[in-house]
Amino acid sequence: PPSDANHLALFIPEPDNLTGTAATLNANSNGLLSRALSAQKFDGKPGSYAVIYGLQDIATVMVFGATTSSLTNVELHNLGGKIAKAVGTDLDGDKVVVHADTLKSDLTEISAHLAFGYQLQNYRFDKYQTKRTNNTGEVVFVSTNAQQSQDAYTNDLQYLAGGIYLTRDLASEPGKNIYPQAFVDRVNAQFKGVRDIDIDVLTLRDMKKRNMGALMGVGQGSIHDPRMLVIEYKGADKNEAPIVLAGKGITFDTGGISLKRNSGMWAMKSDLAGAAAVAGTVYAAAKRGEKVNLIGVMPLAENMPAEDAIRPGDVLNTMQGTTIEVISTDAEGRLVLADAVYYAQQEFKPKLLLNIATLTGSAARALSHEYAAVITRDWDLSLQMMKIGDKIGEAVWPLPLHENHFEQIKSDIADIKNSGAGNPGASIGAAVIGTFIDEKQPWVHLDIAGVDWYNSDTDTVPVGSSGWGVRFMDQLVRDMK
Ligand code: BES
Ligand code: ZN
Ligand code: MN
Repeated sequence: PPSDANHLALFIPEPDNLTGTAATLNANSNGLLSRALSAQKFDGKPGSYAVIYGLQDIATVMVFGATTSSLTNVELHNLGGKIAKAVGTDLDGDKVVVHADTLKSDLTEISAHLAFGYQLQNYRFDKYQTKRTNNTGEVVFVSTNAQQSQDAYTNDLQYLAGGIYLTRDLASEPGKNIYPQAFVDRVNAQFKGVRDIDIDVLTLRDMKKRNMGALMGVGQGSIHDPRMLVIEYKGADKNEAPIVLAGKGITFDTGGISLKRNSGMWAMKSDLAGAAAVAGTVYAAAKRGEKVNLIGVMPLAENMPAEDAIRPGDVLNTMQGTTIEVISTDAEGRLVLADAVYYAQQEFKPKLLLNIATLTGSAARALSHEYAAVITRDWDLSLQMMKIGDKIGEAVWPLPLHENHFEQIKSDIADIKNSGAGNPGASIGAAVIGTFIDEKQPWVHLDIAGVDWYNSDTDTVPVGSSGWGVRFMDQLVRDMK
């Protein structure tokens, strides 16, 4: 082991049969490692963990159990996250060397995936804390195929982590600081100098010209005007139909005149998580130079109660030319998405149109943290989405879209209304959005209300904004391009 490391991390699947770096360390320490492991009853099972202090001048040796069978990318991400948890966020100039020589995987870039998981767990939104910990230091991952791992991390996974950080930053930021134009400014700064990117921002004037009454209606009670942010990444032939990702970007959701209750309202600062995930996904694809045409469409508005806010019972004109009766001003996500998905189809003729939104409490109650809801008009597409989610560790589960859900949103005075009489809420929300999408358009609706914010951590997500959707949509882009 390098002598300049203060800390070592090792994977020991079989403590009675040490191999690789662990065996070397054990031999050099006259069997001390082995004795320390058995004293701590370390069994090497996946999830087990022990720490040994002061072995051979190494401040800490962290040992992790692992399976002896082949690890998937997601399992490697989770192991990387476990290391980050063990190391903590107060590195204070120290150096950690992680030896992955005892891990098995069909993937050649083992340490790139470990580093990726480490980075995802290592995120903290601490800019508003006066006393921040000193987390500067060095973490080195050692495995075979070092060069391939280095390349995979620096040319690809690093940017995916960067996209997830961008998403979490945007979704964690207080509503006071992130309003529609502020979101645009942040994204502009992040994309500065990124190649093959065109950024277009629709202001109120452009929205008026296009009759985007639903998006404008939601934003009209706020002192901050709405925006529609469009990021085009041209990574493939210009004749190739793009994938379009449309993300709900409510920079704060008070509910509007249909005001939300007090408890938990603060969490509505992250009601832009869909838009933020879209920005993060396009960022990752563009930075690694994925050969795909990918477009992010982000309708941004703040939903406030005010004397000039829309009222329950108001009727809004949409870009489609149809009208929506506002039953609840708190069902605002579907309103901004109505204009956004219609615009996306008209403007870009996508081969796939995916929208992602913190749309309904109903989806969160049905599926909690384990799954985002996926709703489509095509069962095969839903199955395809489930496979993509499983592949990358952001799982989705289908909810239905039935003729009756469209029946429920018929209005007495307008073409449709924005909320039905009752259940199932997630499907009713999807039906409103679906009304603005051609039945032949391949369309995926993701409701992430239950997964965008974690109250307890997982291996790759610390408490707070999860950045859910960047990994999912990134995998989709890789598979569908
Ligand atoms: N942003 C909320 C949904 C939400 C709830 C997201 C909890 C994250 C956590 C959305 O705008 C909303 O208010 N939905 C209403 C819809 C209802 C009025 C038809 C809901 O789910 O209660
Ligand atoms: Zn909302
Ligand atoms: Mn709402």
